[in-house]
This record gives sequence, C-alpha cells and structure tokens, in this order.
Amino acid sequence: MSFYVTTPIYYVNGEPHLGHAYSTMAADILARHQRRMGEDVFFLTGTDEHGEPVSQAAERQGMTPQQLVDRNAPRFRDMVARVDATNDFFIRTTDRGHIERVQEVITRIRENGYVYEGTYEGWYCPRCADFKFENELGPGNTCPVHEIELVREKEENWFFQLSAFQERLEELYERRPGFVKPDFRRNEALAFIRQGLRDVSLSRPKLEWGVPLPWAPDQVMYVWFDALLNYYTALGYAREGEDLTARYWPATWHIIAKDILKFHTVYWPAFLMAADLEPPQSVYVHGYLLMGEKKMSKSLGNVLDPFEVIDRFGADALRFYCFREVRFGQDGSISTPGFEARYESELANDFGNLASRTLAMVDRYRNAVVPDPPGGDAAPAAGDAALSAGTVAPAAGRGDPALADDPALAGLPARVCALLDEAELTEALDEIWTAVRRLNRYVEETRPWELAKSEEAADAERLDSALYSLTEGLRVVTLLLVPYLPQSTERLLGALAEPSRAPADFGSRGGGQRIERLPPLFPKIEAATPAD
Ligand code: MSP
Repeated sequence: MSFYVTTPIYYVNGEPHLGHAYSTMAADILARHQRRMGEDVFFLTGTDEHGEPVSQAAERQGMTPQQLVDRNAPRFRDMVARVDATNDFFIRTTDRGHIERVQEVITRIRENGYVYEGTYEGWYCPRCADFKFENELGPGNTCPVHEIELVREKEENWFFQLSAFQERLEELYERRPGFVKPDFRRNEALAFIRQGLRDVSLSRPKLEWGVPLPWAPDQVMYVWFDALLNYYTALGYAREGEDLTARYWPATWHIIAKDILKFHTVYWPAFLMAADLEPPQSVYVHGYLLMGEKKMSKSLGNVLDPFEVIDRFGADALRFYCFREVRFGQDGSISTPGFEARYESELANDFGNLASRTLAMVDRYRNAVVPDPPGGDAAPAAGDAALSAGTVAPAAGRGDPALADDPALAGLPARVCALLDEAELTEALDEIWTAVRRLNRYVEETRPWELAKSEEAADAERLDSALYSLTEGLRVVTLLLVPYLPQSTERLLGALAEPSRAPADFGSRGGGQRIERLPPLFPKIEAATPAD
C-alpha cells in the first residue's frame, strides 16, 4: 500500500515560524508512523513562491521576485530539517517541472470546457490572495483574518466554472464521510458548498510573477490554483526519470490549518475533477497554535521562533509538546513556561526516568541481561494480546499479568496505530502516556530494589518477572513513540538492543538481550542552557 502525505506549501515572503513547523511536524509524524508499519511512503512539503505579496515584497527590498524567493526558500528548507522532518521532496512552485505540469493540467481543464473569459468585481485581500464575498467582510470592508482595509478590484480575466461542481462535490462528501476531518470541519466545508458555489477567477491580469496561462500568456494563473497543484505536479518530477503519479496519487492526507479550508476542501477537489483527476482521500484540518488568545502569525507580530525552542529543548521536545499540549484539530495556547513544565514533568520525569531506572535496574540486578519471561520462550502464552498489535510476530513471552492484562497496556499498539492511521495525533499520544505512567506505577508496586535484597528463590523469580515485564513495556512504548521522538527513541532502542524499525515489531520478545545504560534522555533544562 502506498501512503502520500503533504503539508501546505508555505508563503516564502516571510520567516518560517512555529505555525509552519507545526503542520510540518504533524505530517512527519504520520509519515514516520506509516513507514514503521512497512508502508511505501511519500512525504511532500515546500514553498509557495508566486503571487502579489512576493512581488510586492521584492520591490520593497529592491530585488527581483526570483532573487527574493531564492534567498528565502532555504530558510523554510532549513526549518523542515531542524524539526527533523523526513520529507521525500521539497517543492518550490518556481520549479520548471511544476510550471510545466500546471500548464498541462490547466490546458486539460480548458479543453474539458470549465474555463471562460469574463469580468470580475469584488473586495480583494492581497494577503489572503483571495476575493471576499460581502458576507465574509469585517467591519468597514476589512479582511477578517488580517484586519486590513480591502480594495475593490475590477478586472477582465479567466474564470474556473466552480459552480458546475456543486452536485459532484456534495456527492463526494456523502460517499466519503471521512473526506474532511475532524467532523466539525467537514460540516463547515459542506455548509459552504450547500450555500451555492460561484465561479472563481483563474487568472490575474495585472501580475507578471506567476505561471502564464498557456493560451493567454499576458495573464498569470491565480496563485491559489498554482499552489494547490503542487501536490500533484511534484510526483511528476521529484525523482529524475521517474513519474511517481501512478504510485502515490491520490494523496492519502493533506494536512492543513483551518485558514485554508475552503481552498482544499472545495476548490481543490473540484479543480481535480475538472481535469479528470482523483480528489485526495482525506484532508485533515488542524487548529491554530495561539500565543495567549491570538493566532501566532507574522502579520500580527507574535511569532514564537521554532529555532530558539529547538536550541533550548531539542526537536523531540518541540514535537512532543505541540501535540501533547494542543489537541490536534483544535486551537490551543502555547507558551514558554508551558514548554518547560511539560518537558520537566513528562519528558524528563515520566518517560526519561522510566527509561533510566529500568536500564539501571537490569544492569545492577541482572548484570545488564534482560531476564527471560516467566515460563520462558518455550511456553508462549496463548492468544497473547498483551502488548502486541495482534498482527505481528507471535508472542515469545507474556510477563507479569498485572501489567500485561492492565487496560493501559493490553492491546496498546493496535489502539495507537489505529488512531495514527486516522491522524489523531493527540489521542494516540494520550494512550501512550497512560501506559508510560502505568509502567512507572508498576515500579513502585513491585519495588525491585527490595526483591533484589531478598535471599528467597520466589523473590528472585518475582524480580525476573518484574524486570522482564518492565523492559518489555518500555520497549513497546519506545517503539510507539518513534514518530514523535525520533532522536531519543533511537538512542533508547539502541540501549534496549531492539533491532526492529520498519516494520516495528510490537509482538512481545523473550529475554536474554544485553542492555546498556544511558545518560538522561532529557537533561534538566538548566543543564541544557548554561547561557540562561
Ligand atoms: N501558501 C499558502 C498555502 C498553499 S497550500 C497549497 C499559505 N501559506 S502560509 O505560509 O500562510 O501557511 C499557512 C499554513 O501554515 C496554515 O494552513 C497552517 O498549516 C500553518 N500555520 C500558520 N500559522 C499557524 C498557526 N498559528 N498555528 C497552526 N498552524 C499555522 O497559506
């Protein structure tokens, strides 16, 4: 099975900020999850480089638009690398391959009869690159997103006949209830469609910075259609001499935020239908990261710099914090004190301590060799649903039923994987964290340090069972955390002598492997920032 996930392509006329990093990390978690399930994955991100804001910014800075985008695109590429995203390609809409394919698709749409010439008059927001309907305006004809006064524009241009797709879009939503997630966003998109669809401009006559219409090169394509097509065009030229379209199209997930819902859930599927192409399988619409009450955005000037956060806490901590603190799909506030609190209490204390004390006890009490499970390899427990996803290797051992049968751990991989298949990033993490906390309680309950002091044979067996069960539990939660915490889990899996990566082996292992102790995975914040 193939799996294709995308992020929005980011406007290149600004600095990358945590909002951009957020969508990138979300898509990366999904990509890493599917890869570790053994799927054939393609993950795309990139930059949106045409349109009025770019040419205006270039003019202000006394350079050509091409110079501006060439200077800024690497900043986004760098952000993507710094958050540890494993994208398979980075598209820029100024790529030749993109421009050629955009022209091919638009020609097909015109041949299919969905393009005509006309006059447009309306309220235009240059920052949204979008015309607003009267009912979308803020007080005094302002843009509700950017809070700026809008200009009334009248122009001769080419139109895309969006209205012709009303019924087919409604049918699509009916046939595929999971097309847009979460459900409340699906309802919003459907309500927009049911209001009645008006045709939209396909081109802008006064601009030069864009993809020329093949049949009217004095006009450039409306930047939104140019941008949306990136998801499709990239597959045609991302690998030299190879066309990946048949392998990966339609996309499995487009990850976006609510600001660009209309473009992705209404315009985009209609545009694809007009070109006889399959619409994507699903669009996940996440919320905004807020600073206090406000959306974090460059134009509002309240941007949290992801690079600073990564320097202080590391990319793993940022990835963890964003999806733990803010329910994926909803808006939520983030803050530096919030980072610090979660880092200390959950990464350093809950997970970091579980890892270090487990490794330390196996080292100290069993010479660094994980004991065999009670009953040993020879007698695997029947129907071991304990820690296994149920679809993977047969169980080698079961461990202490107090842990194996605990609802926090029984069937955990299957539950987490099912949630990640649905892009429920926060719920999946909640499940894992409940298990991490259960494992810590298990240490307190079994008190291995007391068992280790006892001379009784029964206590030695209990200690074996506790250490085996704990190590096995830690191995499973670590494997499950790989998409969220790629760097620290890699170190920990090494220390646990766990060989499986893709596919990850959630079926329970026997004992006998030699572990290594590790320095703290999440050092205290003071130690990590001597300069503060
Ligand atoms: N270029 C268009 C997208 C074209 S996609 C075919 C664009 N670019 S953007 O640079 O403004 O990025 C918007 C996206 O960045 C949002 O949809 C979201 O994915 C992400 N975010 C920007 N600010 C954000 C927050 N404050 N919070 C969460 N995500 C944010 O629109």
